[in-house]
Amino acid sequence: MSGGRIHPEIARELVRCKGDFVHFCTTYLRIVDKSGNLVPLLPHDAQREILDLLDDNLWSFVLKARRIGCTTIVSAWIFWRVLFGPHLKAAVLAHLSESAEGIFETYHTFYAELPEWMRSLFPTKKSNVRAIEFSHGGRIRVASARTEKLRGGGYQIVHADEVAMYSDVQRMMRSSFSAADGGAHIIMSTTANGVNEAYHFWHASGSFSQSRYFKKHFVSWLADSTARTSKSSPEYVEPFTDPGLALWESELRDRCPGITDEQLAYARVQFIKLGGSPDNFDQEFPTEASLAFILSGKPFFSRRYDEALGHEPVEGLVITDEPKPYRTYAMGVDTAGGVPGGDFSACYVVDVSDRDKPVEVASLYIRMNVEPFADAALELADRYKAYVAIERTGIGLAVVQRFKHSGYPYLYRTTVQGKVGQEAQERLGWDASERSRPAMLSSLQSAINLGRLEPIDPRLKNEINTFVWDKTGRPDHQGGAHSDMIVAAGLALVAAEQSAEVHQIDMRMGHRPVNALERIKWEMATGQLFDPSLAFADDPDRHSDGGSTMSAILSS
Ligand SMILES: Nc1ncnc2c1ncn2[C@@H]1O[C@H](COP(=O)(O)OP(=O)(O)OP(=O)(O)O)[C@@H](O)[C@H]1O
Ligand SMILES: [Mg+2]
Repeated sequence: MSGGRIHPEIARELVRCKGDFVHFCTTYLRIVDKSGNLVPLLPHDAQREILDLLDDNLWSFVLKARRIGCTTIVSAWIFWRVLFGPHLKAAVLAHLSESAEGIFETYHTFYAELPEWMRSLFPTKKSNVRAIEFSHGGRIRVASARTEKLRGGGYQIVHADEVAMYSDVQRMMRSSFSAADGGAHIIMSTTANGVNEAYHFWHASGSFSQSRYFKKHFVSWLADSTARTSKSSPEYVEPFTDPGLALWESELRDRCPGITDEQLAYARVQFIKLGGSPDNFDQEFPTEASLAFILSGKPFFSRRYDEALGHEPVEGLVITDEPKPYRTYAMGVDTAGGVPGGDFSACYVVDVSDRDKPVEVASLYIRMNVEPFADAALELADRYKAYVAIERTGIGLAVVQRFKHSGYPYLYRTTVQGKVGQEAQERLGWDASERSRPAMLSSLQSAINLGRLEPIDPRLKNEINTFVWDKTGRPDHQGGAHSDMIVAAGLALVAAEQSAEVHQIDMRMGHRPVNALERIKWEMATGQLFDPSLAFADDPDRHSDGGSTMSAILSS
């Protein structure tokens, strides 16, 4: 707060605001509502439930229906804590940078719409799309969960939003905990997203032992007073008359005694927006937690490709986009024995220059012996200079060996923890395990479900249509169907993740741009600013430098 005298009435009001969130929120905070109007933030029942949770618990996990005002109310609470808590630091994590910046607009609106006298008492030192820093030392920062920037941050409040959307929930947890101070408030909130790791977090199953310490709270959309559609609304949809849809509607009515006509109308609108899928509706608009996570026998992916239904897969190589200079490619390889009628061997190549939007460029789907397949995979990888993840279990090892012996440098490695006293070792290729398989599949699942990856290959679409949760809660293909291209596509995303981490991209960039025009081309292709310290394949010292790590690995 700035110095100087404060009028006693203002001082009284500040004390009241500091001690009474609801008073502060209803009196001073403004939001942009669903119709785009600037309105006071008057917390409804669903939001009051969340506020009680935050007041009573240090670590909380909110499982919620969509659009119930969760991000808004948690942001409002954090804004209030930091505004009246000099030196408090808050971190907000979102799964993508755009979502992080989206959340931050809410914070900026809160500040910009405070009355002039209040803003003058709480001037900011810094204010941009990712941070607000008050002169009194309090600050709020957003980041996408992938960045390691919050590490060692000593934050007293950490809010990880939409945690089920993260491709690696474990990793997001680690960044949240490493950002948090000893006694920090940690708030995780999310809508369900299939049975991925967030499901295990909610049920404290799998490897989420920390989750026992989180207070878990479910918020139904019925508790959101804005979740209604009146007859006069332009969105209004008449009660369904189609028998299948009418059955869905009457079941919903039976399940929710007391549901009003306006709430039913809201449900119909959302149901239509979700493509008329009851499973998707229950995931996004659950009325109880058990409905939120889609379970056994249900499709693993929420997208369905009708155009691929009933098509016999055609074997062979499909190139959708030829390799282009300075683009970054990743490839996944799943190998089968080549037996007639058996599984297919598959390769899937994506352009990952924009990591948030991988684009399919080539795929190979074929039944052939492992040696010629290894050659074909190597040729394809080399064509794109792709960073390659090869499933090494069983017969796949022969493909790893083929790549290794040819000296192919851009290969995914698995780190194997050494025994006590021994160092960790790196192995070329990807090992399928109880941990790695679900993580790989869930990363593909969210890419597909959220529309980040839009498959073109009909063979992949076909497999996606027939990939379901089995009785044991494991995602697998239906009897008679295949999942080879799914594994290859999942591995391509796994490879993309590691290629960015180990900065292989820099090494494999081929020709160093030597003039302004080439630099501009490079920057346009990579979306990065050119940095002369990057390594390029035709740098004179590349072999003594980049090559040595690689040969060390190859000889291990
Ligand atoms: N109390 C309220 N009164 C009116 N509108 C509100 C209220 N709270 C939030 N909203 C509006 O409802 C919309 C959804 O809010 P918000 O994004 O916070 O919900 P969410 O549960 O985080 O949604 P999502 O599932 O999209 O993450 C926003 O337009 C927001 O401004
Ligand atoms: Mg939200």
